[in-house]
Amino acid sequence: MSDKDDEMVVTPWEVRGKIDYDRLIKEFGTQRLDDKLKKRIYKIAGESHFMLERDLFFSHRDMDWVLNEYEKGDKFFLYTGRGPSGQVHIGHLVPWMFTKWLQDRFGTRLYFQLTNDEKFFFEPDLSYDDVKGFTYDNALDIIATGFDPEKTYILQDIEDIDLMYEIAVQVAKKVTFSTARAVFGFENSMNIGGIWYPAMQAVPAFLHQHLTGEKVPCVIPCAIDQDPHWRVTRDVAEKLGYYKPASIQNRFVPGLQEGGKMSASDPMSAVLTTDKPKLAKKKVMAAFTGGRDTAEEQRKLGANPDICSVFKYYTFIFMPDDKDLENIEKKCRSGEILCGECKQILAPMMVEFLENHQAAREEAKERIHEFSAERLRTEARK
Ligand code: TRP
Repeated sequence: MSDKDDEMVVTPWEVRGKIDYDRLIKEFGTQRLDDKLKKRIYKIAGESHFMLERDLFFSHRDMDWVLNEYEKGDKFFLYTGRGPSGQVHIGHLVPWMFTKWLQDRFGTRLYFQLTNDEKFFFEPDLSYDDVKGFTYDNALDIIATGFDPEKTYILQDIEDIDLMYEIAVQVAKKVTFSTARAVFGFENSMNIGGIWYPAMQAVPAFLHQHLTGEKVPCVIPCAIDQDPHWRVTRDVAEKLGYYKPASIQNRFVPGLQEGGKMSASDPMSAVLTTDKPKLAKKKVMAAFTGGRDTAEEQRKLGANPDICSVFKYYTFIFMPDDKDLENIEKKCRSGEILCGECKQILAPMMVEFLENHQAAREEAKERIHEFSAERLRTEARK
């Protein structure tokens, strides 16, 4: 790998190189999610969460203020999203599971944006029908994650533009091309849809107040690569009479192959939520690990869980209990367990998870309307 390949690039549309999360906090100007803040979250939530404990969510904007408001009786609402550029894989579900926890524990509304316009503009190979198809398909995964239908609204940019346009134009007027170019690195060769798009991603942060008249904080759980959007959104918020949205930000969820984040476009690197158990098992068995060249060597010297994708699965999804995780880590480092054996532990966990998710996904087909933005239209008419 040359130095250039290793160079860190993090924008909402491109993540590559070796990720230095401390540098991102500094360059993006976010705050570290420290122990004091975590404790405050746990106190209100009534329990801790392993994704915070293990620093998967590691950065934030304004969460102190949000909790101050909450303690004064001023609830927040949640906003997150997904660009429907392909099928959903297990890595996508990780921050959604955390978002569900926040919804359950804080009793909040959630606006879930499906940005089919974004993916249409930014992915040259995706047709209009493709993004519409993935919008439906991905909505099933969102619903299968278990969000509360009474409190969750799935917004699809293209279909629900009537709800969103009024805010989008007000945002768009306040953002100059030179700001957008500086923040997002836009180039002259881009289509103008992409240049407009950031106005759309700002909308759900303001929609709640726009529709209900209730001025309450917005909290955005998201991967840190989305932060440039929030810089722009926060910059225009007060000028338009809204609060600046807060956010709680996660690291990229690693794939099964060496390095990088999970990518649905590299078929072996990701377990898709629709994979048949047999294929999922095959992907697990082919996963990159921190093992040694020979079994003999590994028994003697142990393996390295720090670079192992199987261990990352345990860390971020399958072993929320610290005792389980410590136990497998000890066995790995000491050479007591070999990688093949360890994968044999992960495989049935993965299969069971997929079977449950796929059953929920089937049910979701009958329940799409329960999550639809249609209810917001009624609210808006009141
Ligand atoms: N741009 C995001 C993506 O490509 C989708 C998105 C829209 C989003 N709004 C969001 C993600 C809010 C997190 C939070 O996936």
